[in-house]
Amino acid sequence: AQARRKLIAGNWKMNKTIPEGLALVRELKGLVASLPGDRVELAVAPPFLSLQAVAKELEGSAVKLAAQNCHWEASGAYTGEVSAQMLKDVGCAYVIVGHSERRQYFGETDETVNKRTRAVVGAGMSPIICVGETLAEREANRTLEVVERQVAGALKGFQAAEVAGFVLAYEPVWAIGTGRTATSAQAQEVHRALREQLVRLYDRGTADRVLIQYGGSVKPDNAAELLGQPDVDGALVGGASLKAGDFAAIAKGG
Ligand code: G3P
Repeated sequence: AQARRKLIAGNWKMNKTIPEGLALVRELKGLVASLPGDRVELAVAPPFLSLQAVAKELEGSAVKLAAQNCHWEASGAYTGEVSAQMLKDVGCAYVIVGHSERRQYFGETDETVNKRTRAVVGAGMSPIICVGETLAEREANRTLEVVERQVAGALKGFQAAEVAGFVLAYEPVWAIGTGRTATSAQAQEVHRALREQLVRLYDRGTADRVLIQYGGSVKPDNAAELLGQPDVDGALVGGASLKAGDFAAIAKGG
């Protein structure tokens, strides 16, 4: 497990104007310049409007660019939407798909997650596919059933060779923005189950290559323990990614 690189990605959500975003990445670049790039990869996911400016600011740095969503159609009459190719053109390497906030507020389903994932892969980027149970689902002992359904839905129709380049993000909904992190044992249990699901759906070699990030109140003081788990291959960081110092500290914890 330790052979997998770690991916620490910052999901800015609907935060930061363009100047604020540029100031953040400028500071971040300086703080992470000494990280071993072969073991820890960093990415930032600013709002769509800032992607181009942030891409320019990141030129020559190892920090990768990610988008927070994309539409599944290639082009056409889809007012207000952004295509995968547009994100590729602007320099994105990753696109977050199926974040719980999109499932909760914007009607995202396992089926639309699958379609968006197809578009991301078609444009030559890697998806970061988010899955996670609500508090009620956890309390009803349905966690694994829910996340496995979400993963199976997202991966429908994909071949092993494609999936090997995917990133999954386990984000328990009750841990997002609440300060209530999953314990490292709770995270590891779900990550391990998802890895075994990938073995069943594909094969061991593919399962071993997929990165499985944890997300939900990751902070500098809990990152090292979470990232120390054998099946936790990185973090998808919300609130703490809005401060360069905190985000860099989390990356160093990995
Ligand atoms: O995608 C990251 C996320 O949902 C976690 O947010 O603020 O709990 O780190 P936060």
